[in-house]
Amino acid sequence: SALPLIMGIESSCDETGVAFVRGCELLADEVASSVDEHARFGGVVPEVASRAHLEAMTPTVRRAAERAGVRLSDVDAIAVTAGPGLAGALLVGVSAAKAYALALDKPLYGVNHLVGHVAVDQLEHGPLPKPVVALLVSGGHTSLLLVRDLATDVRLLGETVDDAAGEAYDKVARLLSLPYPGGPPIDRAARDGDPRAIRFPRGKWGDGSYDFSFSGLKTAVARWVEDAEHAGRAVPVPDVAAAFQEAVADVLTRKAVDACREHGVRHLVISGGVAANSRLRRLAEQRCAAAGVEVRVPRPRLCTDNGAMIAALGAEVVAAGLPPSPLDLATDTSLPV
Ligand code: KG4
Ligand code: ZN
Repeated sequence: SALPLIMGIESSCDETGVAFVRGCELLADEVASSVDEHARFGGVVPEVASRAHLEAMTPTVRRAAERAGVRLSDVDAIAVTAGPGLAGALLVGVSAAKAYALALDKPLYGVNHLVGHVAVDQLEHGPLPKPVVALLVSGGHTSLLLVRDLATDVRLLGETVDDAAGEAYDKVARLLSLPYPGGPPIDRAARDGDPRAIRFPRGKWGDGSYDFSFSGLKTAVARWVEDAEHAGRAVPVPDVAAAFQEAVADVLTRKAVDACREHGVRHLVISGGVAANSRLRRLAEQRCAAAGVEVRVPRPRLCTDNGAMIAALGAEVVAAGLPPSPLDLATDTSLPV
């Protein structure tokens, strides 16, 4: 094939991801997750994640190469998440990528994790239209991006000022004694609930910004549950889950559609673990259809952290002819887009 073979390495949070792509073709995508090791803490423990990356990195590279049917010597370029993410976790991936780049004498490209979440859609639905608005919702981030070009022109329109959307799901699940990670069990519980049973606050609603806030919502749910318990009432878990989920989906989709309208954009990409949320997807479809915007959501496996997203973005960066990163490439826990 004429297209360069890109190896992508992701290690910004609790997933060790390695993938191989050529252009929009995904050859292999291997992920080793330490999520089970964090479950009893109710959130990712950075030190635990770093150690897990260290153990998983080399075997995951080997497995991915085997699956892809490629030899490492065939690799044309190595892309790695340089940030944002956890400091120690990022360091493991970047160090590994540097070692491979040096050993194979191939160029290294440090790329942005958030933009990777958008680029990955190309592996599923083909080349992205330009421009797109991207809503990234996961346990670590909640951001709205205006993407005119994946390699060269990405603008942050807004982001959460406190908790990430997935973090809110995880915290509310805990309040309701549901397991971690909290998104899937809340999504399931909400199916039997009435979203209008309780009206929870929509943080930063109608403030004219594209920023989000979920800590007030989490506090409101905590207070509501406490009040019910003090009054000796059973907590109606399905109703609380449905009302909470409605508050999250409402504000996310409202601002995403507003951004499309303001910038004359006709395509919205939703990615990140929370993109799997059934209510978010349905509401986004409805509101986007009404606004003449097409929604693209990669399959769940590609929405969560993985090496494919980094390899997909690496392919764009190489195709754009951008210069490689130096071998002393630094990690940046809050790398801007
Ligand atoms: O992208 P991801 O796997 O990891 C990072 O955080 O980077 O996202 C995980 C988050 C968790 O907070 C999880 O609760 C949430 O995605 N999540 C969901 C659903 N499935 C996963 N949130 C809402 N509804 C879901 N169906
Ligand atoms: Zn992510």
